[in-house]
Amino acid sequence: KKTITDVAVDNKRVFVRADFNVPLDSDCRITDDTRIRKTLPTIQYLLDHHAAVILASHLGRPKGKSVPEFSLKPVSERLSKLLGIPVKMAPDCIGAETKAMADALKPGEILLLENLRYHKEEEKNDSEFSRQLADLAEIGINDAFGCCHRAHASVAGITTYLPMAAGFLLEKEIRFIGGAVDNPAHPFAAIIGGAKVSDKIEVISNLLPKVDVMIIGGGMANTFLAAQGYGIGKSLVETDKIDLAGHLIEQAVQQHTKLLLPVDVVAAAAFANDAEYREVAVDAVPADWMILDIGTKSRALFSKELAAMKLIVWNGPMGVFEMENYAQGTEAVAKAVADSKAVSIVGGGDSVSAVNKTGLADKISHISTGGGASLEYLEGKQLPGVVALSDK
Ligand code: 3PG
Repeated sequence: KKTITDVAVDNKRVFVRADFNVPLDSDCRITDDTRIRKTLPTIQYLLDHHAAVILASHLGRPKGKSVPEFSLKPVSERLSKLLGIPVKMAPDCIGAETKAMADALKPGEILLLENLRYHKEEEKNDSEFSRQLADLAEIGINDAFGCCHRAHASVAGITTYLPMAAGFLLEKEIRFIGGAVDNPAHPFAAIIGGAKVSDKIEVISNLLPKVDVMIIGGGMANTFLAAQGYGIGKSLVETDKIDLAGHLIEQAVQQHTKLLLPVDVVAAAAFANDAEYREVAVDAVPADWMILDIGTKSRALFSKELAAMKLIVWNGPMGVFEMENYAQGTEAVAKAVADSKAVSIVGGGDSVSAVNKTGLADKISHISTGGGASLEYLEGKQLPGVVALSDK
């Protein structure tokens, strides 16, 4: 697989697939520009090498229609502010007018194409559409890790028509997440949280044979506690996954992997921040209450384990952290991950925002820009966007 520094970009017209799928508020204002900022090193490198930079991304899911709310215009404005130079906006991502703008682009200039998903051909990985995108440039860079689990035209099909290499962001994502999955340092801990076991089963199954410690928290821990026979009151539980949770616990025992579940929890009378709540041991959850966070002893137990690790992968919160009274478990884990000397990788929107909220982002080795993509990577799947680069 080639990266940006392996290919000649000087004075070339370069197509860059980025993941500018950023959250917008109801006035189409960007509420988090992390994904834009993380792509700046690649863009800056290209500008420094006198490339004419043609940026492409999808935004939201407009399903093949030109829906104005999903225009990339706000992204062009933010990019321009961050880079301190103008960013031209194309009326579309293909077509005569866009092609003319791309052809007229000079070294050191930037053109942002309009939303790729305004055309249904993007998601269909259509070859004619791929070729039209490829025609805009002389070489391509894929820096859209967040989209690499999609076999779409701008990440997969295009590589048939345009030589393409990985940008700095994609290269870093592959180095950290790929490294953890394929060749992990030990001791290695995975912390898996979030509401539902069903979302993370494949991540747990793939990582369980590789880790020394598997920590399970968040709503999904309830299903494991139920498998161990604890009464979990009115807590969220996936009844049809209790057997599977039991099997995973058994598998961990057989392979001598430490599987850690909460030993105490914060239980509340209702799913609300102003509900009555208290800490209880896992065997003392009141029958009509629900578990909404891990307790003090669990936080200490998890933190102590994490301190000794060389590699930590974290995906998913430990409790309902968006409600203040149930945020302490997730915050404690964020702090433990940041304080450890381990190489630390955090993925998934919720755990990433928890890390950002605690102001500890600088102490994490790698914060992934991928949601679905980082999950699929941790599941051990090949990502079509990455495979397309290595094939050529
Ligand atoms: C993401 O936000 O995870 C990526 O941009 C992919 O978006 P999608 O789930 O709509 O394909």
